[in-house]
Amino acid sequence: MTVKKARALDVSSAHAIVTGGSSGIGLATARLLAERGAKVSLIARGRDRLAAAAKELSAVARAADVADQAALTLAITELEHEQGQPCDILITSAGLARPGYFLELSDEVFREMIEVDYFGTLNALRAVTPGMVERGRGSVVAVSSAAGLIGIFGYSAYGPAKFAVRGLMESIRAELTPRGVHVGVVFPPDVDTPQLAEENRWKPEETRAVGGTIKPLTAEKVAAAIVAGIDRRRFVICPDTGTRALARFGSVLMPLLNREFDRRVRSIAGAAKGTQ
Ligand SMILES: NC(=O)c1ccc[n+]([C@@H]2O[C@H](COP(=O)([O-])OP(=O)(O)OC[C@H]3O[C@@H](n4cnc5c(N)ncnc54)[C@H](OP(=O)(O)O)[C@@H]3O)[C@@H](O)[C@H]2O)c1
Repeated sequence: MTVKKARALDVSSAHAIVTGGSSGIGLATARLLAERGAKVSLIARGRDRLAAAAKELSAVARAADVADQAALTLAITELEHEQGQPCDILITSAGLARPGYFLELSDEVFREMIEVDYFGTLNALRAVTPGMVERGRGSVVAVSSAAGLIGIFGYSAYGPAKFAVRGLMESIRAELTPRGVHVGVVFPPDVDTPQLAEENRWKPEETRAVGGTIKPLTAEKVAAAIVAGIDRRRFVICPDTGTRALARFGSVLMPLLNREFDRRVRSIAGAAKGTQ
């Protein structure tokens, strides 16, 4: 294996591909990269939101399902051709979360989380990293979640998919960094996006209680952390102090956190008993 010295990536001359770039964290990150002068390409399924985002950012876009490896690889190849430049920065933000009680979630939900959140990330990485290694430059950043750092009541389908994203990025960091490619993984807590609004429709009461009254971050704050992470070639990218503490001291904090989370869950059961 040839070890290449990592060079700082000049965002202003880069081609950035953002999956999930039509909404939320992906859109906010694409906007920041476009403001920095990058050529931006967007991938998502829904054509209307994609066209609106592409128009706003003067970006190019392809509709594809990230879980469909052949369709996603073709979309990435076409975007590289249309932009006249291979992918220098990949942000994998496409994803979805479906909370619910473990005993009530369907098998399809468990599969969908893995297909979209995990394989959707893997498929994009597999399409761009061989070229990056060949050129000895590039940056790949995957969006995991605070639910990829600690198991949370109600996230038995979503959490494991985000843990898998984290495991994947930890493994490829060790392989790709010495070959000139920056690898990063983002752990956002709740972020005010359409996904969170959809998620809130399904959240068990106990999941809300565990989350407490913490105000969701803005997508712009997460995007700023991602772009700073690319500039500084950070591996772990945490947009807030709570998640940073969890990422650094998770295994030490876990018994304490679990005790507090269990107390909150019990308070829901107690309140339900009281109303019977
Ligand atoms: N919001 C939060 O609280 C939060 C917290 C932690 C982590 N995250 C993670 O952050 C990432 C972005 O979420 P967000 O909150 O920004 O959600 P969002 O606003 O709903 O955006 C999700 C984006 O992903 C695209 N997408 C979803 N499924 C796709 C698929 N199968 N193929 C291609 N594109 C797909 C969506 O477009 P289409 O639906 O049109 O395809 C959309 O562009 C996700 O991975 C999410 O799990 C979010």
